[in-house]
Amino acid sequence: MSIAPLDTDQEVLRRYEVASKTTEEALCCPVHDDPAYLKAIPEEILERDYGCGDPTPFVDEGETVLDLGSGSGKTCYILSQIVGPKGRVIGIDFNPHMLALAEKHHKAVAERIGWDNVSFHRAHIQDLKTDIDALEKRLAEKPILSYEDYKTFEAFRREAAAPPLVADGSIDIVVSNCVLNLVAGDAKGKLFPEIYRVLKTGGRVAISDIVSDEEVPRHLREDGELWSGCISGAFQESAFLRAFEAAGFYGITIAKRSEEPWRTVEGIEFRSVTVTARKGKEGPCRERNQAVIYKGPWREVRDDDDHTLRRGVAVAVCDKTYRILTSAPYKDQVYPLPPHVEVPLADAKPFDGARTAPRHPRETKGIDYRATTTQATEACCPAGDG
Ligand SMILES: C[S@@+](CC[C@H](N)C(=O)[O-])C[C@H]1O[C@@H](n2cnc3c(N)ncnc32)[C@H](O)[C@@H]1O
Repeated sequence: MSIAPLDTDQEVLRRYEVASKTTEEALCCPVHDDPAYLKAIPEEILERDYGCGDPTPFVDEGETVLDLGSGSGKTCYILSQIVGPKGRVIGIDFNPHMLALAEKHHKAVAERIGWDNVSFHRAHIQDLKTDIDALEKRLAEKPILSYEDYKTFEAFRREAAAPPLVADGSIDIVVSNCVLNLVAGDAKGKLFPEIYRVLKTGGRVAISDIVSDEEVPRHLREDGELWSGCISGAFQESAFLRAFEAAGFYGITIAKRSEEPWRTVEGIEFRSVTVTARKGKEGPCRERNQAVIYKGPWREVRDDDDHTLRRGVAVAVCDKTYRILTSAPYKDQVYPLPPHVEVPLADAKPFDGARTAPRHPRETKGIDYRATTTQATEACCPAGDG
C-alpha cells in the first residue's frame, strides 16, 4: 500500500486555524517588541504571536510595506505606526481564520493609531498575483460541474491575475516573520522570484525565519507536526542566502542570527535569522570616471555583481555600481572617488567591462591636472590636532 505524500499546506492551514483561536505557547519563538507600538494592539492579537524575529526596525516612514504571512496582524499594526499616515501596509496570509482575527480588530486599532493604512488579503505568498477570495467568490457563484465550467473558470483565473493582487514594482520593503519555511517544498522555488517581482528598483527585504544548520532529511520533512511547527520546512542556512542571490538581490546580509538554536531535532539545529537584501543591480553601466577604495579589513571582497575590490586600491566602477557601493549597506566600507570634473550622465559612454580594474589617479583627476598647493588643507590637519 502506498502512502500519500504529506500535504504540508493542509497541515499548515489546520495548525494555524487552531492557533488563531487558542494561543499555542511553543509555536515559534517571538521576540519582545517596542512596547510603545503595542499599546494600540489588543491582547487577543498579541497573544497569537508566532514570529521568530523582528523585521520592523528595517522599515522607514512613508514606505509601502508588504508583510508575508501576516498571521494575527500584529506586525502589520506595528508597521502601520512606523510608516505613518503617508505609508501603506499590506498583509498577506492564506489562512482565512488568521485573516479574520486580524480584521476583527482592524477598525478599533486604526482608531487608536489615528489612521488606517493597513489592508489584509488572502493569497499564497509564493503567488502574490492571485486573490484567493476573488476565486472563491467566483466558484460560489459558478461552481465547476463540467469541463466547460472548468475552462471558463480558468479564463476567469487568468483575467483575475491581470492586474495582479500585488503589482510589479509596487513595494518599498517586503518583510516576513517566520513564514517562508512553511511554504510547500515544490512551491519554495517560486517564492524569491515573486518577492523580487513586487519590489520597486531600490526596494528591500527584511526577512526573519528559522533556518537549519544541516539539510533536513526526508523523514523529518514528512512529519506534519514538525513542518507546521516551523521546523522541518526550514531552509538550510547557506541555501537560504543563496536563494536571495539566485533571485538577483544584492547586499545580502545576516542582520541577526541567534547564537543558541531554538530547537534541536536529531542533532540538527534550528535557529532564527533575520536577512536583509536589496533589489536594483540591473541597469545600464555608464562610464563617469568614478572609483571606490575598499577600506579593509579583508584583503579583497567580491560583491553580488562580481566586482572584486582590493583593500586600498582605487577600483574603476560604472555609475550604477558607484551609486550602489556608496550607499547602504556598503557605504561605510569604501571611500568614494568622484572625478574632479563631473561627466554628465547624458554624455556618459558605456562602461568598458574589459578595462583594468584599478583606475589610474589621472583618470579621476584628469590628464591635464597640474595643481600645486602651497598650504596644507584643513582636511589633513584639522584645527585642534596640534
Ligand atoms: C508562524 S505564523 C507567523 C505569523 C506572523 N508572521 C507572526 O509573526 O505572528 C505563519 C503564518 O503564515 C501563514 N502562511 C503559511 N504558509 C503560507 C503561505 N504559503 N502563504 C500565505 N500564508 C502562509 C500561516 O497561515 C500563518 O498565519
